[in-house]
Amino acid sequence: MEDVSGLIARQYEAWAYPPPFRDIKAMLDGGYVQMGDPALYSAALWPEGRPRDKLRILVAGCGTVQAAVLAYTNRQCEVTGIDLSEASLAHERFLQDRHGLTNLRLYRGDLRDARKLGREFDLILSTGVLHHMSDPGEGLRALADVLAPDGVFVGMVYAATRRTGVYMIQDALRRMGVKQDEAGVAFTRQVLSALPEGHFVNRYIEAAGELQHDAALVDTFLNPQDRAYTVPQLFDFIGNSGLAFQHWVEPSWYYPEGAFAPDSPLGLRLSQLSARDQWATVEMLTAHIATHVFIARPTTLDPSAYLLDFNSDEALNYAPVIAPGIQRTGPSHYERQPLQFQLGPAEEALFTRADGRRTLGELLEHPQLSRLHDRDDFGRLVMSHLWKLGHLMVSKRPLH
Ligand SMILES: C[S@@+](CC[C@H](N)C(=O)[O-])C[C@H]1O[C@@H](n2cnc3c(N)ncnc32)[C@H](O)[C@@H]1O
Repeated sequence: MEDVSGLIARQYEAWAYPPPFRDIKAMLDGGYVQMGDPALYSAALWPEGRPRDKLRILVAGCGTVQAAVLAYTNRQCEVTGIDLSEASLAHERFLQDRHGLTNLRLYRGDLRDARKLGREFDLILSTGVLHHMSDPGEGLRALADVLAPDGVFVGMVYAATRRTGVYMIQDALRRMGVKQDEAGVAFTRQVLSALPEGHFVNRYIEAAGELQHDAALVDTFLNPQDRAYTVPQLFDFIGNSGLAFQHWVEPSWYYPEGAFAPDSPLGLRLSQLSARDQWATVEMLTAHIATHVFIARPTTLDPSAYLLDFNSDEALNYAPVIAPGIQRTGPSHYERQPLQFQLGPAEEALFTRADGRRTLGELLEHPQLSRLHDRDDFGRLVMSHLWKLGHLMVSKRPLH
């Protein structure tokens, strides 16, 4: 059998993904965000403090745009992109030339050979890649091997529940011998339009924005190799690869507070579980998650360096910072697409002043809060609640 890397390389050569765009500035002006971009998410990536301004970033399986976007938004950093697909790298090069990205290096190759790059990295991003490998663990171990001792790994792999119907369609298309070519794409579109309304795949399609692009359709339904993970499977995958789980990039998908009323019988029952069991259970109950986007660290690093403990005395020295993409949509109303939320007056006094420079203790000095009789507990609760919903990032020390 042909090595699966060969099949995958051929697919992404013919159907470069994601659908490329021609101007990074125009995309960013339109609200485009690269997940895990340190220009926006440093506080979430390194709660203990970013190790240096001039980060060494590796984008493993960079596709058509990801490395160029990160080089554009992080001009002071050195960005390296590697990919199997020359077609994808060609578009990265186009963006590099267009925007004069002298801080970007691009290599054609297999991420399993990351060692050959001859250096280590402060930040490694690999999104939408490892689940296409015949041995994803081998890929993750190869990347963990080039991560700096205080480095951060941001990964995205497919999640099982919402993709259930995708695997049913993949199976059916494979049995019918549908190929990765123009005719196969047209036939796949006919199949999707012929399905009964209640088919599981429609749960996936309603959330997938890109399927009008042929490359996205091929990536989803005609991929020769992909697999998906439940939360416990993801933890096994990370744990067996020399990394330790830090947190989610979008925590609201996993915490009960993001889906169920906290004072309902279900909310109360969930609140009694450990965090990991909450996440695994919520995943099964919502069937909402299509991808797991996670932050992981080297196992050699003491987790107390980066894990947050909202019940500790230290929590009053944490510095919360409003997450990217939050908009005020009305009095006390906010939005972080697609989520909407409302804050009470005291919560709002804390939230709106969370600039990452002031500690929780300092924020609680505000006249509107300082007279609350349980002021410190209130502060911890609001900070942890909004962090679980992803509306606040929390740094263990004030940002400069
Ligand atoms: C779905 S695309 C994701 C691209 C990019 N990471 C993003 O999120 O936009 C997957 C990419 O991974 C690349 N890829 C798959 N397996 C790889 C491997 N073993 N080494 C390097 N690149 C790989 C493919 O060529 C393709 O460009």
